[in-house]
Amino acid sequence: MTAHICCTSTLFQMVFRRSSYLSPGGAVRADNAGSLAGDKMGRVRLSVLILGLGLSGLVAGQDFVGSARCSPCHSEQSRRHSAGMHARALSRAENSRMPALLDRPVAERNGVQLKYSRTPEGWTVEAQLGRDRQNALLTWIFGAGMFAFTPVGQREGRYFEHRVSWYSALQRPGMTMGHPASMPTSAAAALGQPQTPETIFRCFNCHATNVKPGPDLTAMQPGVQCERCHGPAGAHVQTPSPANIRKDSGIAACAVCHRMPDENAANKTAPEQADPLSIRFAPVGLMASKCYQAGGALTCITCHDPHGRPLPEKPEYEQKCQSCHAPASLVTSKCPRSENTQCLGCHMVKATPLPGLTFTDHRIRVYREGWKR
Ligand code: HEC
Ligand code: HEC
Ligand code: HEC
Ligand code: HEC
Ligand code: HEC
Ligand code: HEC
Ligand code: HEC
Repeated sequence: MTAHICCTSTLFQMVFRRSSYLSPGGAVRADNAGSLAGDKMGRVRLSVLILGLGLSGLVAGQDFVGSARCSPCHSEQSRRHSAGMHARALSRAENSRMPALLDRPVAERNGVQLKYSRTPEGWTVEAQLGRDRQNALLTWIFGAGMFAFTPVGQREGRYFEHRVSWYSALQRPGMTMGHPASMPTSAAAALGQPQTPETIFRCFNCHATNVKPGPDLTAMQPGVQCERCHGPAGAHVQTPSPANIRKDSGIAACAVCHRMPDENAANKTAPEQADPLSIRFAPVGLMASKCYQAGGALTCITCHDPHGRPLPEKPEYEQKCQSCHAPASLVTSKCPRSENTQCLGCHMVKATPLPGLTFTDHRIRVYREGWKR
């Protein structure tokens, strides 16, 4: 596509009046906040690396072997996992649909122009602001595309998160969540937000497997693969046994990436009221709901298959509800569940805290009048 930049009819317009609501006052990107767990993981990985070097050559127990090694023995988990979004949470640009989606220039109303092209070096963006132009390679595409794709590029040896993302629900590009809507001061700034080695390490470490601080991506497997949850399986593939492989089924194992509630949250009983964006983080809502607090037995995998088809049929979720909540007696409860199984529409609704991003509010509850969305 070589649409001319001044030919407005072929330009994608980023709707900035709406997007400015994406980051009121330049709020900190939720992704980069609250990832202390990521830091800890980083230190664990570092020690693993040092140990690995000491045992050079041999396949050590601490070595990652890659998901392909698991499928001959665990074909069922492998089949389900490869159909889900975890496996696709990160891709190289050349393996992604993103370059095909962003085949036309993006123009912002404030004068920033972004042009995309496929070059022998890779997928490239040129940012233009007045006479100022800057080029950069967009190497990595974050997100499986269920919600969004966000490119991450490199320029002068530094990673940056691109200013433009693709929002699947809107089927158009828009400003990346958390980026300032104000006009960038230079073409370089229009490319996106520069990352430090620590922040970009955290991004990769939540979207990929076997990432080392630096970030060192030489042994990385893109996507949340088997060993991201089960740990390095070198010893296990040599001597298969449940004793030498991790299997964490608690909420904490998922919250390493999906985030734990913020201990300093303004409202711990109804976190989504103080911070509507917190519904993006399922553990936050779930752990504030009575189903979790009163029972204590509710975890993520009560409802979600950790490998599985990511979002099973609705009736499957409702069967999970009914495994704890027997049909109500019409005499003692106003809940009509004895005749109606559509629990989710009344107790676990969807919300759209940002244009194009719709999540499920995991704080299971009775919606009082006016709360329904
Ligand atoms: C050569 C066959 C083989 C390979 C390869 C293999 N496993 Fe296993 N795995 C087993 C056997 C056997 C068990 C024990 C099954 C049992 O006790 O029911 C097992 C058990 C497990 C368990 C369950 C542990 C528990 O506590 O119940 C997990 C998790 C696991 N493997 C993950 C993996 C991962 C991840 C890989 C790839 C990196 C892998 N396995 C590769 C044979 C294999
Ligand atoms: C290493 C980080 C990481 C861990 C650990 C993790 N997730 Fe995820 N999860 C992700 C990312 C990243 C996505 C987003 C994929 C996308 O849409 O781009 C995701 C998406 C999901 C989704 C949305 C549906 C889908 O598959 O896209 C569900 C459900 C989910 N995770 C459940 C879980 C559960 C349950 C656990 C714990 C057993 C867990 N996750 C552990 C990173 C993680
Ligand atoms: C603490 C772990 C963590 C970090 C750090 C992280 N992500 Fe994610 N990311 C997730 C999880 C979990 C999901 C799926 C659920 C959600 O939306 O939060 C996700 C979803 C996404 C999505 C899909 C759209 C969406 O909002 O659901 C994109 C795109 C994305 N992340 C990009 C990035 C980029 C780029 C960075 C670094 C600048 C980053 N992420 C850092 C865990 C993380
Ligand atoms: C998002 C985290 C996550 C990923 C990725 C993941 N697993 Fe698991 N896996 C779990 C959890 C949690 C359990 C425990 C399930 C339970 O207790 O019911 C589990 C259980 C297992 C088991 C025991 C049998 C079972 O199904 O409960 C095997 C075998 C296994 N995983 C293999 C794999 C293989 C192979 C892959 C990659 C193809 C993989 N896992 C990817 C989280 C994960
Ligand atoms: C692991 C068991 C378990 C599961 C699964 C479960 N719940 Fe609960 N739920 C509970 C317990 C325990 C309570 C507290 C009961 C009480 O206080 O009397 C509760 C409370 C509730 C309440 C009342 C909340 C309030 O704030 O008053 C609603 C509504 C509810 N659950 C709906 C659901 C729905 C809908 C699902 C499925 C999406 C579900 N639950 C799944 C155990 C569970
Ligand atoms: C009581 C059942 C239940 C539990 C427990 C549960 N979820 Fe969900 N989750 C759902 C339902 C229902 C959906 C929406 C499915 C759909 O729309 O198809 C969902 C959707 C999701 C999604 C997709 C994005 C979204 O918000 O719609 C992610 C990610 C997710 N859950 C993560 C988690 C994590 C992490 C945990 C553990 C803290 C968890 N869930 C616990 C029922 C549950
Ligand atoms: C049409 C909306 C609607 C549907 C569908 C619905 N509920 Fe309810 N539910 C309510 C309302 C309203 C209340 C509060 C009743 C009251 O005033 O105390 C309630 C209360 C509850 C309670 C707490 C009080 C009690 O009676 O135990 C539970 C648990 C519950 N519902 C579970 C479920 C489950 C599980 C399903 C699906 C099988 C379901 N509900 C379907 C509207 C609904």
